[in-house]
Amino acid sequence: MDIEQIKRKVKKNLSEKRYLHTLRVTELARQLARTYGASEIHVQKAALIHDYLKETPNHELQSIIESTDDPLDILAYHPVLWHGPAAAIIAEKEFDIHEPSIIEAVRYHTTGRPEMDVVEEIVFIADYMEPARSFPGIEEVREAATKSIEQAISLALGNSIRYLIHQKATIHPQTFQAYNAYVSTLISEYGGNKIW
Ligand SMILES: [Fe+2]
Ligand SMILES: [Fe+2]
Repeated sequence: MDIEQIKRKVKKNLSEKRYLHTLRVTELARQLARTYGASEIHVQKAALIHDYLKETPNHELQSIIESTDDPLDILAYHPVLWHGPAAAIIAEKEFDIHEPSIIEAVRYHTTGRPEMDVVEEIVFIADYMEPARSFPGIEEVREAATKSIEQAISLALGNSIRYLIHQKATIHPQTFQAYNAYVSTLISEYGGNKIW
């Protein structure tokens, strides 16, 4: 499917509020693709599909996830995480998407993971900091994203982990692993210079 076809299909499945969020993420992802030399087409397709199942009932998400292996053990964690992996599972069939970068960007936008490729990184951070988002620490993430996407992702993961702990929520192991991997990369790049 091309971008316009994907947009029409996504619009039908979402409330106006969620669809507008999707469009803002998609536009920000397109801008970040220019900054970081990623495929604008790939990031836009992934961003459009990322929340396709956000308003789908949990029992439907569960049966989609149960229809395949569940290597993330995602069903053992909070249902708010399920819509990413579930949308990745149906992306091939429903959107005719075969590009692994797009599928993985959709799958991991809820948890993050270590060593995301640039399309995954862009969708992850665009979803986190799209223009309508407003919460403590977000300006620091926006500022970081103009220079280093790894730095922005480290900050975003740290904020998310702190928030989840504060909420007394469980945290998916991929989120911790992603945090460790991105912070380790920054330490090895910048050494003792704590520019981040
Ligand atoms: Fe989402
Ligand atoms: Fe989203």
